Amino acid sequence: MPNVSFPEGFLWGSATSAYQIEGAAREDGRGESIWDRFSATPGKVQDGSSGEIACDHYHRFAEDVRMMKGLGLSAYRFSIAWPRILPGGRGAVNARGLDFYSRLVDALLEAGIQPFATLFHWDLPQALQDEGGWPSRATAEAFVDYADVVTRALGDRVKDWITHNEPWCTSMLSHQVGLHAPGLKDWGLALAASHHVLLSHGLAVPVIRGNSAGARVGITLNLSPVVPASPSPADHEACRNFDGYFNRWFLDPVHGRGYPADMIADHIADGHLPPEGLTVVKAGDLAAIAAPCDFLGVNYYNRVVSRSDKVLDAQNQPRTVELAPKEEWTEMGWEEYPEGLNQVLNRVHLVYGPRRIYVTENGASYGTAPDADGRIPDERRLRFLREHFLAARRAIDAGVPLHGFFVWSLLDNFEWDRGYGQRFGIVWVDYETQVRIPKDSALWYSRVIATNSVDTV
Ligand code: FCB
Repeated sequence: MPNVSFPEGFLWGSATSAYQIEGAAREDGRGESIWDRFSATPGKVQDGSSGEIACDHYHRFAEDVRMMKGLGLSAYRFSIAWPRILPGGRGAVNARGLDFYSRLVDALLEAGIQPFATLFHWDLPQALQDEGGWPSRATAEAFVDYADVVTRALGDRVKDWITHNEPWCTSMLSHQVGLHAPGLKDWGLALAASHHVLLSHGLAVPVIRGNSAGARVGITLNLSPVVPASPSPADHEACRNFDGYFNRWFLDPVHGRGYPADMIADHIADGHLPPEGLTVVKAGDLAAIAAPCDFLGVNYYNRVVSRSDKVLDAQNQPRTVELAPKEEWTEMGWEEYPEGLNQVLNRVHLVYGPRRIYVTENGASYGTAPDADGRIPDERRLRFLREHFLAARRAIDAGVPLHGFFVWSLLDNFEWDRGYGQRFGIVWVDYETQVRIPKDSALWYSRVIATNSVDTV
């Protein structure tokens, strides 16, 4: 079978986030984050673990960068821990925190790896949470100051900036579903949080540009195609609502369309918002959120099949969407659906038209462990990645301006509320010894990178 090649200059990267890999939670002046507090609260993380040590990347970053170089990665997406930089959330700057990222960036550049820095990947300083967290407008203002400090220090060398990772998770998953820190279940707070996250993004964009000459700035959204489980009108209605809640609530304002009117109406009708609507939006906010960006980051893992419980319960209608057989779902319990990536990329391109798109995360959790020879034959991850790379290639063929792909994740790591039970890495981490072993998927990926092409067998 011939190889399917990618456009010249396509970036092949991997992604991580600070709290999931760094460890050194109490070192060099780092302040407490909401994830330290949340994971120390019994019952919040499935295996009772935390990111206190994680992959010890804080001490092993040089080794990790050497490994990335060995694999041939052309780009690396990491996040900066706000509580390392501003331990109290605002005010006094911790120079040792900045210094760590400065050394990491230097090592990456030295290795010929393009750094993509994410400013917020969920580890909010606890001090800001104590003052109200994202539901409070003051947190958006504090974020802009934090972005200013970081980009002043690193903006000469980092030219690709992502303000936020997955605002849906920061707001809804953390304040309404309650699975992530701070673990609240309150619609009003979640919706206020979503607005302040987006506002902080928009306000930070010009600040970042001002500090980092020639910078390219974007935001990363987690997106899923949403399909109705059956042709029934009720399932279509459930689909519209979920798509609005998950995708459009974030895509629309970032691209200058404001919040979707149907969702505001739904939230008022459901009692999530008062009759006046989203009252935290002040004059000028929507224009700020719509600050033109250089790219959109898309994180894609799976699709959502929406059904109306009413129809299912009352009439027991047959569901017509065929899901992949359960044996083919990843260990997160997520269906493998590579074509969904092509669908999401096309939708974003056709409806919203961002200048550039990167897949800033895609990957799979499979626990495949080292065999007797110390090799890690993670064929299912390899197949997962191949299918998603090919889906990305189909999107490029259709005209989507996709410029790079970051595999989640470089290393096995602390998977939030799931703890260390889920392994997303293309590199195995032995948490006892901190030994890293590239899995078969990593070795295969390095051939993809070297040839800028994917084998189709
Ligand atoms: C994404 C997160 C990332 C990781 C993957 C599996 O939602 O951005 O940190 O947890 O899911």
